[in-house]
Amino acid sequence: MFTWEFATDPYPAYAWLREHAPVHRTKLPSGVEAWLVTRYADAKQALADQRLSKNPAHHDEPAHAKGKTGIPGERKAELMTHLLNIDPPDHTRLRRLVSKAFTPRRVAEFASRVQELTDDLIDRFAEKGEADLIHEFAFPLPIYAICDLLGVPREDQDDFRDWAGMMIRHGGGPRGGVARSVKKMRGYLADLIHRKREALPAEPGPGEDLISGLIRASDHGEHLTENEAAAMAFILLFAGFETTVNLIGNGTYALLTHPEQRARLQNSLAAGETALLETGVEELLRYDGPVELATWRFATQPLTVGGQDIAPGDPVLVVLAAADRDPARFADPDTLDLSRRDNQHLGYGHGIHYCLGAPLARLEGQTALATLLTRLPDLRLAADPADLRWRGGLIMRGLRTLPVEFTPRQ
Ligand code: HEM
Repeated sequence: MFTWEFATDPYPAYAWLREHAPVHRTKLPSGVEAWLVTRYADAKQALADQRLSKNPAHHDEPAHAKGKTGIPGERKAELMTHLLNIDPPDHTRLRRLVSKAFTPRRVAEFASRVQELTDDLIDRFAEKGEADLIHEFAFPLPIYAICDLLGVPREDQDDFRDWAGMMIRHGGGPRGGVARSVKKMRGYLADLIHRKREALPAEPGPGEDLISGLIRASDHGEHLTENEAAAMAFILLFAGFETTVNLIGNGTYALLTHPEQRARLQNSLAAGETALLETGVEELLRYDGPVELATWRFATQPLTVGGQDIAPGDPVLVVLAAADRDPARFADPDTLDLSRRDNQHLGYGHGIHYCLGAPLARLEGQTALATLLTRLPDLRLAADPADLRWRGGLIMRGLRTLPVEFTPRQ
């Protein structure tokens, strides 16, 4: 595991683990030992098990204290006290507050803006007849979308694009660039939240931005502190950004390498239907989703997963990509079938940490893929799949570049 071949195609290794060592202790590249859970039923149980804490303080690995493991909590910034690093009752309170601001309705109202952003980005390369779909499309779309939703002014959004690029190492910046980018983003968000709080009107106006909604949200008279609001804005950006880049990137790649499925989708879009697009995006999440492993969990008590005893303090990584190809749960799991109906995949997680941004991710994924295939109908891969490079991070799965060509359009 964790070789270049594995980053390119981890699925054979996951199939082996599911069959022979479904809960397997392994040494990660950082040196930390963690349990990998690869079967669907075990994964679902572990994701919902309250004895598995999200708080990195429960991890007792000595390397943790030295800050070398890559476990998020060790970057002891106030931004790290966010939903993915906390347990009930704090998690329950914060999630309830953000859910009041980040409603499916707010996302639905945002559909025309996502369409406009998608069209603008395609306009920028449509005449060239070629593009790198990661850098020119999948990468900028989610960052502009989430900035707009949060209420980051347009003139500041390119700074976010740069910081975010550094954070996911698309920018390939100098060492230390990531920490500097996080610091800049933190400073910017704290300042923005402060300014918006000062200027908040008494009543919400139509289309009020999400940061104002977060400041306004209250639960039994309790509001988010400015620090909590900053941590929340940061996790919305962070959780909603690279994931969506990879949904669009991995999804487009899967369509371009499965011509029959792609033709079915194109025909159905041409007929003005949306059903196949909707089931299709769910299938792309199952088949090759953005989140390869769910974020860290740590045992707080002795527990058993899939017959394996796990000791307190042990880190557990649920391998969503393996669970979603489990033949015990999905018929023909290695086949891409855009019309798959029985498809309760774990691509958005499960339990109390289930993805808060799923409605936005679906909106962006569906809009991006439908618009690409409709506006550039002869889109094709401009590289041998064997030459494409996958990023091979621990949690996320995504392509570094996705070169394509097509007949130039106005
Ligand atoms: C949580 C996947 C897009 C915000 C999660 C989790 C997964 C996930 C697997 C649970 C992690 C765990 O339990 O360890 C995805 C995928 C996306 C996506 C595949 C895109 C295709 C978004 C977007 C946003 C977002 C667009 C927001 C703008 C969040 C937040 C959490 C979360 C805030 C933490 C929820 C909690 O702990 O209560 N996501 N996500 N995600 N996601 Fe997403």
